[in-house]
Amino acid sequence: MGRVKVTPRIVVTGKIPNAGLEVLRNAGLNPQAWSQDTAMTRQELLQQVKGAEILVTLLTEKVDGELLDAAGSQLKAVCNVAVGYNNIDVAACKARGVTVTNTPGVLTDATADIALALILMVTRRLAEGERVIRGKTSWQWGMHYMLGAGITNRVLGVVGMGAIGIATARRAKACGMSIIYFSRSEINAKIANELGASKVSLDELLATSDVVSIHCPSNDSTHHLIGKTQFEKMKNTAFLINTARGPIVDEQALVDALRNHEIAGAGLDVFEFEPKINAGLLDRDDVVLIPHLGSATTETRNAMAVLAADNAVAIVNGRAPLTPVG
Ligand code: GLV
Repeated sequence: MGRVKVTPRIVVTGKIPNAGLEVLRNAGLNPQAWSQDTAMTRQELLQQVKGAEILVTLLTEKVDGELLDAAGSQLKAVCNVAVGYNNIDVAACKARGVTVTNTPGVLTDATADIALALILMVTRRLAEGERVIRGKTSWQWGMHYMLGAGITNRVLGVVGMGAIGIATARRAKACGMSIIYFSRSEINAKIANELGASKVSLDELLATSDVVSIHCPSNDSTHHLIGKTQFEKMKNTAFLINTARGPIVDEQALVDALRNHEIAGAGLDVFEFEPKINAGLLDRDDVVLIPHLGSATTETRNAMAVLAADNAVAIVNGRAPLTPVG
């Protein structure tokens, strides 16, 4: 008699596109997948992860020591369906021998599109204009009516020149902007050349840019990277764009900088205490606020789910994951 093959327990902690579940099923796995649109409560999560060999997680789930212990020592990997992984305590995973993977690459263009959209929306006052129409406020075309700031011949400062920063820079260059960047590492010379982009210090970037766009990862070293001191260094005609992660910006300092006219406006897709929004932002016309839509296209979300599932399948089968973190 052959031995009974035990299928590893794979827990998908949030609702993901079927494309991802299919990858798991086609590999002979039987994912236990949360099927509701709203996230599990913490208690449900701690219960569901018990005995899992692989967790497929969303950015809304905090993966910390408590959760890893609740899962148990058989846990092999946490496969995040996001490029950002600040929801995961990577050191705690490492200490337990748990591999962490993310989904880089597949959401680069979608997120860069949103960064460009926010740049245009906030500099040209598009959300404010739309509120005029929808609010049925009377208006009339006028030479001085609702003037914004053009971006042609202006400087985009990219904070974090990884794939998404580069893709945003390409879009901005196509709109006539020149590019400077602040990054841990030098970018490929060919890309720097194509973009005409030069690497500068953060202080120089803040002092020189007309638009500062954030694309670095969120971690201990980038927490509140942009705060009171940095806003003071920015031009008072400059705009801040954040499509990366909320905690990189000190949100209260941002509200204060806007109130004090230290900067001209902000376009935000992410928030420090998401989904809560600082009340000081809500009634301001000089900010554009959208609910974390960076990767929100059908094809991108499918691709993210598939990549996370591919990572899970590789790990279950003893192969190296495609996109490990760290
Ligand atoms: C989305 O925010 C992501 O990190 O994938």
